[in-house]
Amino acid sequence: MLVWIDNESELSQVWQYASSRRIARRVIGKGSNVLVSDRGLSGITVKLTGNLSTIRPLDVSAGYLDVEVGCGCSLGKLLAWARTQGLGGLEGLVGIPGTVGGAIKCSAGTKIGCIGDHLLEARMLSRKRIGWHKATKLGLGYRRSTIGSLSVVVSARFRLVRKTSTEVAESYENARKARGNQPRGVRSAGCFFKNPKKRSAGALIEASGCKGIRLGDAMVSLQHANYIVNAGKAKAQDILRLAHKVMYCVRHQSGIHLEREVELWGWTRGG
Ligand code: EPU
Repeated sequence: MLVWIDNESELSQVWQYASSRRIARRVIGKGSNVLVSDRGLSGITVKLTGNLSTIRPLDVSAGYLDVEVGCGCSLGKLLAWARTQGLGGLEGLVGIPGTVGGAIKCSAGTKIGCIGDHLLEARMLSRKRIGWHKATKLGLGYRRSTIGSLSVVVSARFRLVRKTSTEVAESYENARKARGNQPRGVRSAGCFFKNPKKRSAGALIEASGCKGIRLGDAMVSLQHANYIVNAGKAKAQDILRLAHKVMYCVRHQSGIHLEREVELWGWTRGG
C-alpha cells in the first residue's frame, strides 16, 4: 500500500501502527536508487509530501542562509530554488534524481560534493521518537549512512553560502559539465555499484568485457559501464541477474568484489 503523508503526527501514527502489527514499512523518495522486485512490495510504503516537502529559509546573515527542507522535496526543486536565491553549496548534487531524504539516507553525491557537505542536522523519526540529530551523528560516508531502515528522515537543515549570481551560475554550469559522461534520459538506477577503494567500477566493468552485454532487455550501458539500463521491457529480475553476471566477470578478471550501490526492495519475505 502506497500512502502519501504530509505531516509528522500522521507519519508517527502510521509508523506506530505498522510497528505494533509487525507490518513492513519504508519511505520511498523518487525510487531512483532502488530496484523493486517484480512481485512488488508488501506492507506500507510512504511518500512524504505537502508540509514534508517544503523549503523554509531560517537564519539569514551576510555570508550564508540556513534553510529547513522537508525530506519529500526533490533535489531538483531545492537546487533550482537555491540557484535563484544566489546560494551555493549544493552544486555537487546537480543532476541527481532523488529527494532530500533519499539523498541523505544514501549519502548521495558526486566528485564535486555530497549531500552531507552543507548539512547541519536532520530530523528523524526512529522507533517512537522524533528529533533533530547533528549531521556528524548520521555516519555519512561514501554512499552510506548509519540511518537504520526503520528510521525516517523527515526534514533537514542546510547552511548555504551566499554567492553572486555570476558565481552561482558558473558553479552550477561546472557541476553540470562534470557529469558529462554519465548517461542521461535512460531508464536506470544511476551507478549500480560503488567504486571500490581508489578504483572505478565503470572502468573495471569495461575491462572485464561486460560493457554493452545484455540479458533480455537489461543492458550494461555502452556509454558508462556502471549503469545497467532498461532498454525495453526488462524485468527487475533481468536487471539483477545481469548485475550478478557483471560482478562475476569483474571478480574473475580482477579479483575485485563489487558492492551494490542500488538497494534491493521486496526480494525477500517482508523485505
Ligand atoms: N570509465 C571507464 N569505462 C566506463 C565508465 C567509466 O573506463 O564505462 C572510467 C572513466 O573514464 C574514468 C573513471 O572510470 O576514468 C571514472 O568514471 P566517471 O568519471 O564516470 O565517474 P564514476 O566514478 O564512474 C562517480 C559516481 C557518480 C557521479 C560521478 C561524477 C560512483 C559509483 N559513481 O562515477 O555517481 O555522478 O562520479 O561525479 O561513485 C551514482 O552514484 O549513482 C552516480 C552516478
